[in-house]
Amino acid sequence: MTMTEQNPVTEPATKVPSLPDAQTVTHVRHYTDRLFAFRTTRPRSLRFRSGEFVMIGLMGDNGKPLLRAYSIASPSWDDELEFYSIKVQDGPLTSKLQHIQPGDEIILRPKPVGTLVHDALLPGKRLWFFATGTGFAPFASLLRDPETYERFDQVIVTHTCRDVAELTYSQELVSGLAEDPLIGEFVGDKLTYYPTTTREKSPKMGRITHLLQDGTVFGDLGIDGISPETDRAMVCGSMGLNLDLKEILEGFGLEEGANSDPKHYVVEKAFVG
Ligand code: A2P
Repeated sequence: MTMTEQNPVTEPATKVPSLPDAQTVTHVRHYTDRLFAFRTTRPRSLRFRSGEFVMIGLMGDNGKPLLRAYSIASPSWDDELEFYSIKVQDGPLTSKLQHIQPGDEIILRPKPVGTLVHDALLPGKRLWFFATGTGFAPFASLLRDPETYERFDQVIVTHTCRDVAELTYSQELVSGLAEDPLIGEFVGDKLTYYPTTTREKSPKMGRITHLLQDGTVFGDLGIDGISPETDRAMVCGSMGLNLDLKEILEGFGLEEGANSDPKHYVVEKAFVG
């Protein structure tokens, strides 16, 4: 049948996306003046592994898409997608993205990639997630994936932020996991959350790198140390954090893995603005 203006094909009453690869924003929550999270519809065809990232963005003033890499913060089984973002007031994308509202459209290229995936790690007993700032996003996905708890006896997630308010996203996510009807039973008593702040007083202060180097983390958690026999790690934060942690983990004898060559730890740079 040919569609004409007089004889239109009847379409379901859903909004037709106006952008290529458009997804509709369903929720937005602002945590601080520097941080916000949002959820969008998920393309039916999008399959991804928890911990991967995609390119997302908005149409720029010049009519070209302005895209950045964003870790998917939602788990692979979720019907929607979630993202956790910094707001950079003069950042080309986030200065605009921070104003999105439910019903708005964003561009999402459905080609997930990344190294913070279980496939890049050898089996082990204890899994560490080391995050600073919005580097927590891929772990928000992995912490809600049953595979994380099926593969490891113990999961430790550290999150270092400047101040206490910046820990809200990870704090609420972790505290909701035990009661989560879908994955609560997988989590059981395997998960330990280790939040630290560097610029505001809190129960645990200091950069995670320093707390590992002086043994504070191990003392607090009653662990002897990190070893390639038992421990696996994923790292996501600023370039500085990634380099410092790489050195620390290699000092413990861990080797960096990749999708094609799984080993003891993997690193990815958090989106920065
Ligand atoms: P600091 O306050 O000492 O710079 P940001 O918000 O700038 O992305 O930083 C997030 C957190 O990461 C801050 O608490 C910051 O500490 C910390 N951080 C920055 N660089 C490093 C690093 N090289 N090693 C460990 N933590 C770091």
